[in-house]
Amino acid sequence: MSVDLLLGLQWGDEGKGKIVDVLTESYDIIARFQGGPNAGHTLEFDGIKHVLHTIPSGIFHSSAINLIGNGVVIDPVIFKKEIENLSPYHIDIFKKLLISKKAHLILPTHRLLDAASEASKGKAKIGSTLKGIGPTYMDKSGRNGIRVGDVLSKKWKERYITLTQKHLKMLDFHNVELEYNLRELEVEFFDALETLKKCQIVDSESYIHKAQDAGKKILAEGAQGSLLDVDFGTYPFVTSSTTTAAGACTGLGVAPNKIKEVFGIFKAYTTRVGSSPFPTELFDEVGAKISKKGHEFGATTGRARRCGWLDLVALKYAIQINGVSQLMMMKGDVLSGFETIKVCKQYRTDSGLIDHFPYDIQSDLITPEYKDIPGWKEDLTQISTEKDLPKNFLDYVDFLEQELKTPIKIVSVGPDRKQTILR
Ligand code: IMP
Repeated sequence: MSVDLLLGLQWGDEGKGKIVDVLTESYDIIARFQGGPNAGHTLEFDGIKHVLHTIPSGIFHSSAINLIGNGVVIDPVIFKKEIENLSPYHIDIFKKLLISKKAHLILPTHRLLDAASEASKGKAKIGSTLKGIGPTYMDKSGRNGIRVGDVLSKKWKERYITLTQKHLKMLDFHNVELEYNLRELEVEFFDALETLKKCQIVDSESYIHKAQDAGKKILAEGAQGSLLDVDFGTYPFVTSSTTTAAGACTGLGVAPNKIKEVFGIFKAYTTRVGSSPFPTELFDEVGAKISKKGHEFGATTGRARRCGWLDLVALKYAIQINGVSQLMMMKGDVLSGFETIKVCKQYRTDSGLIDHFPYDIQSDLITPEYKDIPGWKEDLTQISTEKDLPKNFLDYVDFLEQELKTPIKIVSVGPDRKQTILR
């Protein structure tokens, strides 16, 4: 059986968690393929909001197996807290959750290095979530990392000490003020590791291959967004993993020809956290209104997200790179009440109008060219079928489908599971 893939098409925070939760009924396995606790996947049902960082978003359903793939980086401390947060819901975590032996561990010193690296960059900082993501992936590609499978052997502590010593030297090199008590951090880390070791730690790629042979339906869940991809994102203001479709192949061991549907999720507008170029950013009361209505605050860091109009140049780029076959538009309800909605169709540059995503999107190099679209006044949050949606909203969706040459199969009109309209 083939694998379907779900990923974000903007700068993260598109609402992937909600849609994975909605789709899980149709799948046997939900598999996270990259990123780590920099992600904050939010799900809401029965009046309760849940935020997951490492655990896949299918965990609340009774039957699906949830798998943390080799491409994910895990902080045992955050992972343990996530498990504790799930305890009121009587989920049999140790039965339903599998972890790849090849997933890398975020050590306490990775988090310290992240903080030191950002501090030493001053104004040029990336705006990292400071969860240790960059340093952990650096150790992975530098062939120094410690994997989940390593902690099952007795010898791994020597490697831990060697790596930590190296990190401490690197911290000295950064030469920034950083207050920490490594001993305390390590007590917490080793304690949390015991919880992680209680989970089923498996050769996840063979688990997936066997599941495919047995005809199981698998949904690969991405984290962050395509414009944060280490290769195709707005480098260097990106995360350190492959957030695009290729990441599902390397992060789970799924062959490219086994991927069938690629679900691309985007918001009806654009948001971004951290420092970095953002062509359609709004600095006026419109941006403030979107931010307030959309509750645009980071689920992991609590930082205010910057808001702007939808950018079709960037969205088309993400659709192409990922081979998106179906789109899902989130937070349409947030745009209710605007007289006019703007959509960026092209960028104006020194050499004229362009409609491709260029190497550099600094605001002094490009100006967005907008098309005005009539807005709608109606509240969408109580609507449950397409036929009840206001005409201007449906015209907006039609316009986007034509521009993007891809069907929009789901529109989401609120955070709850129920506020999801299938088309
Ligand atoms: P890092 O992945 O924590 O190193 O952060 C690198 C950049 O990616 C920063 O600009 C972060 O704000 C951004 N980022 C990382 N994870 C997420 C996410 O899940 N949603 C939105 N932005 C993210």
